[in-house]
Amino acid sequence: MDHRSLMDGVYRWQRHIYDATRKYYLLGRDGLIADLDPPTGGTVLEIGCGTGRNLIAVGKAWPAATLHGVDISEAMLATARASVVKAGMGDRITLAQGDACGFDARALFGRATFDRVFISYALSMIPDWEAALRQAARCVAPGGRLEIVDFGQQERLPALWKRALFGWLGAFHVAPRAGLRAAVERLAQDVGGVAQSRALYRGYAVRGGLIRAEA
Ligand SMILES: C[S@@+](CC[C@H](N)C(=O)[O-])C[C@H]1O[C@@H](n2cnc3c(N)ncnc32)[C@H](O)[C@@H]1O
Repeated sequence: MDHRSLMDGVYRWQRHIYDATRKYYLLGRDGLIADLDPPTGGTVLEIGCGTGRNLIAVGKAWPAATLHGVDISEAMLATARASVVKAGMGDRITLAQGDACGFDARALFGRATFDRVFISYALSMIPDWEAALRQAARCVAPGGRLEIVDFGQQERLPALWKRALFGWLGAFHVAPRAGLRAAVERLAQDVGGVAQSRALYRGYAVRGGLIRAEA
């Protein structure tokens, strides 16, 4: 089964309870949104935007920004489209179907780069997550930022907890990326930027990203 069909299968029913359930364990999303701080009139792209929950929160936190979201799953995008309209943000949020590992931002959104690009709990579901990281960096405008939040390696939590959590996540095709922080460092070097990353909640989650050098 290809990855797009797999994601549509995973979320065909889950999407109806997704926002209500994930708020208890996709930790760190609201901190990322609060820190985004796009320039006035700036542009924001979420890669793997799911139900649109984050984009709507970004829209409320940063009312002058124009928002874009891409996701591989049409099932998730159907929920996102309905939520965006319900939130009254249809004129500010543009959604499109695409694969994080290689999409044409200009074709989908009419622009190649964005002031802020973020990926929230999606790299752990993307098999070639390093390709998705590289693609995300290509979408960051000079002087802009890439921000990531995802499951961490549980390094300061009991080993039994880590085993149980990773086993449970695996059933949903989620694999926390042990190499994420190192990959962000390498990417920053490759694109000419400054990387930063830190563990959240004793390693339950990880925040990372890079600031791209000005042109
Ligand atoms: C756990 S959800 C996270 C959704 C949202 N970012 C959030 O924080 O609530 C992962 C999302 O990544 C999407 N996804 C998985 N693989 C993808 C890919 N290769 N390209 C784009 N989106 C992908 C899934 O369809 C799903 O909507």
